[in-house]
Amino acid sequence: MERLDKFLCDSGVGSRSQVKLVIKAGRVTVDGAVQGDASRKIDPQQQEICVDGERLGGKRRLVVMLNKPAGYLTATQDRQDKTVMDLLPEDLRRQGLNPVGRLDKATEGLLLFTNDGDLLHRLISPKKEVPKVYYARHEGTATEADVAVFAAGLTLGDGTVCLPAVLEPLGEGESLITVCEGKYHQVRRMMASRQMTVQYLERRKEGNLELEGLPRGEIRILTEAEVTELEKSSL
Ligand code: URA
Repeated sequence: MERLDKFLCDSGVGSRSQVKLVIKAGRVTVDGAVQGDASRKIDPQQQEICVDGERLGGKRRLVVMLNKPAGYLTATQDRQDKTVMDLLPEDLRRQGLNPVGRLDKATEGLLLFTNDGDLLHRLISPKKEVPKVYYARHEGTATEADVAVFAAGLTLGDGTVCLPAVLEPLGEGESLITVCEGKYHQVRRMMASRQMTVQYLERRKEGNLELEGLPRGEIRILTEAEVTELEKSSL
């Protein structure tokens, strides 16, 4: 359940103050009845919300950011392990959200969820090249030779060819790695192929998005503006 005015804002009807005026003017109906109370709690999944008789997307598009802690599987369910779904509040869990790509159980950081299948596929497609930035603590120290090999697109031990990636040494045993695809254990395998076994991995950025102080284990719903910007990076 959420406030009517917040839902209308998030649906792009206008700013909070514009939405208040729209509601006051009697232009909003909830299940067919005019609703004048901006603070009224509604369930957009169950109720029909209209502005000037036009239904606002039966299913509201949602994109949620999680700062994933270690120890959670990126899966919608698992018999043994805790999954990232366990970190979503109850009301969001019922909205058909799926993780966008995956982070390993031990990896921390930025993980998106969406209920928009098209957006999900665009974001994980290597053709769209949405850059993802990882911070790694690892054995050894990255050299200029490693940077050049990453930039050229390295080939893993099993013959898997990776797209060109950016390796940025931060000092002894620490690097930033930017990749545009999400192969299985990709960053760990890329680093291991250069004798830099990863001990700790955190995703810090995806496209235009950063964790920006979101505490570990917490979520936030992206604004329409952020989703529009994210979409642009995946077109
Ligand atoms: N690359 C990895 O190796 N693991 C992750 O979780 C993400 C990228």
